[in-house]
Amino acid sequence: MTQDELKALVGQAAIAHVQPGSVIGVGTGSTVNCFIDALARMPERIRGAVSSSEQSSARLRAHGIEVLDANGVEALAVYIDGADEIDHQGNMIKGGGAALTREKIVADLSARFICIADESKLVDTLGRFPLPIEVIPMAAAQIARRLAALGGEPVLRAGVVTDNGGHIIDVRGLRITDPTAMEREINQWPGVVSVGIFARNKARVCLLGTPQGVRTMTF
Ligand code: 5RP
Repeated sequence: MTQDELKALVGQAAIAHVQPGSVIGVGTGSTVNCFIDALARMPERIRGAVSSSEQSSARLRAHGIEVLDANGVEALAVYIDGADEIDHQGNMIKGGGAALTREKIVADLSARFICIADESKLVDTLGRFPLPIEVIPMAAAQIARRLAALGGEPVLRAGVVTDNGGHIIDVRGLRITDPTAMEREINQWPGVVSVGIFARNKARVCLLGTPQGVRTMTF
């Protein structure tokens, strides 16, 4: 099976976690695009979605699914999103699509984070994928110096401005053995909008696409 087929498989499998008539949180990325397309095929529709990016909002609306303002919603039962990496404890690196800040906001509103990913995303230790960090532009150089002091190789993502007007620094060469501690540390630096480590609010379930079918991991 190709990676795209595995993404379609888990996008469809996530529908089993969606209550018809409910409002859900929807993430961003190519795997989530498959999920959004599967949502559109549900015979009994959802009431609406809180979306983590303009990109996903546009796709939801194109399918006739209402996109709701996060400020008008008190809580969501589920948040369904992909990941760039996920470890065996449910900690993730996210932000390859530059949507990490809104992803954290919608995940925080949600009782359960369900990660959908093809098996290439499963790792023993986070850090092979460059860690994305959204920053306020005027702080980028100082944050890059701090990341270099941690042993990383930071690079500003060229030409990218996030939905929030921020910039993205991608950091190679970090071996993230304590995701919770690193998330907490980087989060408190002035000018960091959010760091792409999802450990404080990690996945509770991962639907992992494999050639043998969907493997369900719970954390
Ligand atoms: C976007 C993300 C995505 O979830 C992550 O990049 C995975 O994307 P894809 O499903 O396209 O592999 O964090 O900011």
